[in-house]
Amino acid sequence: MVTFHPHPDPLPSRERGNYLKKNIVLTGFMGTGKTYTGRALARMLGTNFIDTDSLIEKEAGIPISEIFEKFGETRFRELEREVVKRASEGNCIVIAVGGGAIVDPDNLAALKRNGLIINLTASPEVILGRVERNSDRPILQVEDKIGKITELLEKRAPYYEKADITVNTDGKSPEQVADEILEAVRSET
Ligand code: S3P
Repeated sequence: MVTFHPHPDPLPSRERGNYLKKNIVLTGFMGTGKTYTGRALARMLGTNFIDTDSLIEKEAGIPISEIFEKFGETRFRELEREVVKRASEGNCIVIAVGGGAIVDPDNLAALKRNGLIINLTASPEVILGRVERNSDRPILQVEDKIGKITELLEKRAPYYEKADITVNTDGKSPEQVADEILEAVRSET
């Protein structure tokens, strides 16, 4: 269930202790790089990484787009709640959740109990550039993608604002974002 990405040269364990007193939870809109950044961060820290969307797909045996298509968003949110709950019970790991996960107050509470919530952001144009090539985001399968992105960003802003730390990802590599998160986490704890 847990994906482990050993890093050839993770931080020395005494240094890891500076960062990892809790789980690090990456949230933020679709296309803000949660999965890539989470992978890079876990590698740097020499810890486990759980991507809740991947876990849902793995356990359902079908892609998220197909879950939406066959069973609807409500069923997807149920599966998400269950997987988020399990992931949040991890200890000092990195967790990336889908962009809609923290809209659910139970998900946010579970993740916050033992985790520092990091909100990744990007401009609507950057988000569009990152997501427009693939069809695995059922919520963005509409004609006016930039309109939908802008509308949803606005609607979800109050939820993303509940994060402990916000990091902008425009024009940055996952490693750069991961470095910024580590810096921010260090000054936070
Ligand atoms: C969603 C975001 C997706 C995925 C699902 C719904 C959302 O995850 O969970 O398609 O509601 O924002 P990413 O944010 O990883 O694309």
